[in-house]
Amino acid sequence: MSNQNSGLVAVWVAGGLLVAVGAYTMIPPPKATAPVQTIKDIMDSTVDPAGDFLFESIQDIADDKGVRRKQPTTDADWAAVRKRLMDLYDAPTALTAPGRKAAGPDDRSAAPGVENEPWETQVLLDSQHPILVQKAEALKQAAALGLKAADARDVDGLFKAIVTIDHACESCHLHFWYPRDKRAQAAAREEGVE
Ligand code: HEC
Repeated sequence: MSNQNSGLVAVWVAGGLLVAVGAYTMIPPPKATAPVQTIKDIMDSTVDPAGDFLFESIQDIADDKGVRRKQPTTDADWAAVRKRLMDLYDAPTALTAPGRKAAGPDDRSAAPGVENEPWETQVLLDSQHPILVQKAEALKQAAALGLKAADARDVDGLFKAIVTIDHACESCHLHFWYPRDKRAQAAAREEGVE
């Protein structure tokens, strides 16, 4: 007990000294820091690789041996699927963190005129945060469906979840990233993306 008390005093003294030094040398108070990773970074490092892995996890492969279905079968296959689903389940929290930027100051669209430039996306992100939260939540729910299917080793359930994940990606992109892309809009309507 007495040890704990002296520990607290030591911390308090150290804090007091820091404040005194800070005041003397006029160190500005620390600002709340904005997240460093951009949405583009999170897409490139986590969301897109997870999406690619999952979209390829169930496939009909046609070759000279005929048509066969590729799907997760072993424990290791299912564990790998589960890991990518967890990435997508967790990403929405990061994507919607306050202050999260679309992309870096030097980033430019690869398809200007069709895609938004990052600063155009930024205007939407800043003015329509609740819609971002809603679209991110849709990705989380789709990933949750996938996790349930993975736990049950349910290939059909996983396939349905993957389609829902694909729609969640597209729905957010159509709103924030390429809202002018008429072809993507038409394709999304056909697939029932909301
Ligand atoms: C909640 C919104 C949201 C969801 C959900 C979302 N994205 Fe994105 N994504 C964005 C935004 C915004 C950008 C544009 C960032 C920029 O300005 O470069 C983007 C950009 C991308 C890019 C381009 C990255 C680059 O280097 O230019 C890829 C690839 C991508 N997303 C893949 C995916 C995939 C795959 C999914 C689903 C598994 C997904 N995204 C889900 C918002 C989202």
